[in-house]
Amino acid sequence: RFTPTPEDKFSFGLWTVGWQGRDPFGDATRPALDPAESVQRLADLGAYGVTFHDDDLIPFGASDTERETHVKRFRQALDATGLVVPMATTNLFTHPVFKDGAFTANDRDIRRYALRKTLRNIDLAVELGAHTYVAWGGREGAESGAAKDVRVALDRMKEAFDLLGQYVTEQGYDLRFAIEPKPNEPRGDILLPTVGHALAFIERLERPELFGVNPETGHEQMAGLNFTHGIAQALWAGKLFHIDLNGQSGLKYDQDLRFGSGNLRDAFWLVDLLESSDYAGPRHFDFKPPRTEDMDGVWASAAGNMRNYLILKERSAAFRADPEVREALRAARLDDLARPTAEDGLAALLADRTAFEDFDADAAGARGMAFEHLDQLAMDHLLGAR
Ligand code: GCO
Ligand code: MN
Ligand code: MN
Ligand code: MN
Repeated sequence: RFTPTPEDKFSFGLWTVGWQGRDPFGDATRPALDPAESVQRLADLGAYGVTFHDDDLIPFGASDTERETHVKRFRQALDATGLVVPMATTNLFTHPVFKDGAFTANDRDIRRYALRKTLRNIDLAVELGAHTYVAWGGREGAESGAAKDVRVALDRMKEAFDLLGQYVTEQGYDLRFAIEPKPNEPRGDILLPTVGHALAFIERLERPELFGVNPETGHEQMAGLNFTHGIAQALWAGKLFHIDLNGQSGLKYDQDLRFGSGNLRDAFWLVDLLESSDYAGPRHFDFKPPRTEDMDGVWASAAGNMRNYLILKERSAAFRADPEVREALRAARLDDLARPTAEDGLAALLADRTAFEDFDADAAGARGMAFEHLDQLAMDHLLGAR
């Protein structure tokens, strides 16, 4: 029970378990982790996939020979464990060259370098079998007003993604891009701050079908938004290409806690939504084991993500199977919401006196919605009280 298997499609970034605990106020609290060891440990814990930034695998500035050695070791670990690489991404934020951004840096030479760095890692991602390429624009933003002309920066962002789309098309790669929104941190304000901004941006691209979103739990919550609602809209738009699961307590710095921490109710509704949707992609954890933990704590934290997901999955299934819940869903008129409002057509709506002239708004306004009973049933199931 609650033991993850590869069928659960849990995946982890190398940078998550490999985070050494360096923060703006303190040094690393843990040693560097060998990617091959991470692959082995994650496989032992029941994960199915591992993801990486170029620089997680191949240290920035490594020579071609060093690069080959790192890739070979990683590949051997994948072959030995059966772990797959569903997604990869580019580090366009650590090196000082990216201090003003990558695809939207004011300096053109830096933008060209960022594109080349990305294209190079796309080749590796495809070689390793990835079908999704994440783009998180952590440094694409500003701390002050005149320093960034946002409309022009968005032109440059579009230019970059159009070139990336052209590249994978010309290469014949089976690879789609997932844009990851975040409102702030490390920049004061980041471009494409929420799922909604990203969805609107994608429609302006040359090849919108190649682009979707990679929403992260904590990032939407940092903006005070309902993560589950954001995921629902992404699903509705056919744009949920990938997902970063973690935990966050309210509107503060990006906590990247293990999944299930922070807003537990939102985590419950998220699993409830995902498990009833047609999303077949990885359940990817983008978390940071707190810097209080030693290596045992890191693996306990990693395992906790998957365990919490599986517990919530069971709780959601119990909620949906409960006859009293079905009754409560009817009382709350979810079936009525599912009916089109005017399947009889506009003319019939206009001719329908019961829709307006004879409609008793006061009586309709007096009807209770019975949402509290329904929500308490959800709480009972979430807390294991039913
Ligand atoms: C964050 C971001 C990053 C990105 C990752 C992919 O927590 O601010 O989620 O972790 O997801 O670096 O580029
Ligand atoms: Mn985050
Ligand atoms: Mn993320
Ligand atoms: Mn992160």
